[in-house]
Order: sequence, then C-alpha cells, then structure tokens
Amino acid sequence: MPLAPLLVPSLLAGDHANLAASARRAAEFAPWLHIDIMDGHFVPNLTFGPEVPAALRRAGLKTFFDTHLMLAEPQKYIEAFAKAGTNNISIHIEPAYDHRTTLARIRELGCQCGIVLNPGTPAAAIEPLLGLVDLVLVMTVQPGFGGQPFRSDMLPKLREIDGWRQSRGLKFRLEVDGGIDLATAAQCRAAGADTFVAGTSFFKAADQAAFAKAFAAL
Ligand code: DX5
Ligand code: ZN
Repeated sequence: MPLAPLLVPSLLAGDHANLAASARRAAEFAPWLHIDIMDGHFVPNLTFGPEVPAALRRAGLKTFFDTHLMLAEPQKYIEAFAKAGTNNISIHIEPAYDHRTTLARIRELGCQCGIVLNPGTPAAAIEPLLGLVDLVLVMTVQPGFGGQPFRSDMLPKLREIDGWRQSRGLKFRLEVDGGIDLATAAQCRAAGADTFVAGTSFFKAADQAAFAKAFAAL
C-alpha cells in the first residue's frame, strides 16, 4: 500500500518578516513544515539558523518540522537543530563526511533522519543507506532558491528508489522538493513519491484550503 500523500509547505516561501504567521498558516492545512537551512557554501544562498525552529516552538507551533540541511558540514549542526525542536533532519549525500554516523547520531538525538540527493547525483549514491533512513528526498531542482521550474528528468530516479523500497520491504517516505505544484506532484506521485514540499505554490495559492484538499486526493 503506498503511503498517503503528504503536503509539506516550505517556510522559505513564507513571509520572512513574520515567519510565525506563515508557519501558523501552513499548520492550518498541513501537519508538516519544511525548513530549508542554507550555508552559502554547499548552496549559493543563506536562510535560517537553529534559532528559527526554536523560536517557532516558543511561539507555540506544534507542526512536525522537516528540516533540510543544505550545508557543507551538516554533522556539525545536527545537535543544534535537534535541540531546536526539529523532528526530521535531512542531510545531503554530496559533501564528504561520515553519512552513516551522522544518520545514526540524528536518531540518537531523538529525530527522524533523511538523506537527500541533488539532481546530478544518481540514485545509486544513496542505495547502500536506504535501510538507515526514515526519508529519502529527491531534489527536483538544483537547491538554493525557491521558485525554480520542476525537472521532469528526475522522475526515473523516483521510480528507481521506489522500486528498491518495494522490493526490500522498506518504509521510508519518498519526498520531492523544488517546483512542486499540483501538476508536477501528480507526476511524482505516479513515479512513487508520497511527500511533497511546496513553497511558492502553497504560499501563492489563492485558496490554500482547496490546494491542500487537492493534494490529499493525489
Ligand atoms: C530549494 C529548497 C526548497 C524550496 C522549494 O533549494 O530546498 O525547499 O523551498 O521552493 P519551491 O516550491 O518554490 O520550488
Ligand atoms: Zn528544501
């Protein structure tokens, strides 16, 4: 049985002068919130530090925080993000550090863990780690900025990873991030994805309730 589709609004597309209001808006329609952490090295942009999820918790947000670390040295920051009240911490496969130890450490800290691949990274790069993660995130744009067009050439990668998941009886979520709207999410759903990060499409939707309802029916 495929997992039910899960909409994950991305805070990056919210109002940076009022992140709590954007997070609350998202929480009205979705149980998860995606938080993008960028360091200006692994990606050419900067976003939030651990103080943002910590402050959102203090502001009363109860959402599941799905934290996407786009960092050259993620292993140095997982403790800070776990302490800040995030629930899942996803780390990229591309930088050189001990991925296995870092994934295990994330779980020791009481969080779920995810592994992320850039568009240029083949599925084979994460294949040995599939039994160690709660989530696999396939980037459907080059990470760094919201509002980029979806890359349909990532669909075969989703099918490949979903195929491994089924043949091995694994339970991780298969998430997509970048250029996701209803139309591109439907393509990803058909290719095996179940977890859909939506930044621009969610925050710019004229009717967010209808948007969330349509996602639930994917
Ligand atoms: C991009 C980030 C995404 C971003 C997606 O580097 O990882 O999470 O918020 O934004 P949209 O949905 O606008 O493509
Ligand atoms: Zn992201």
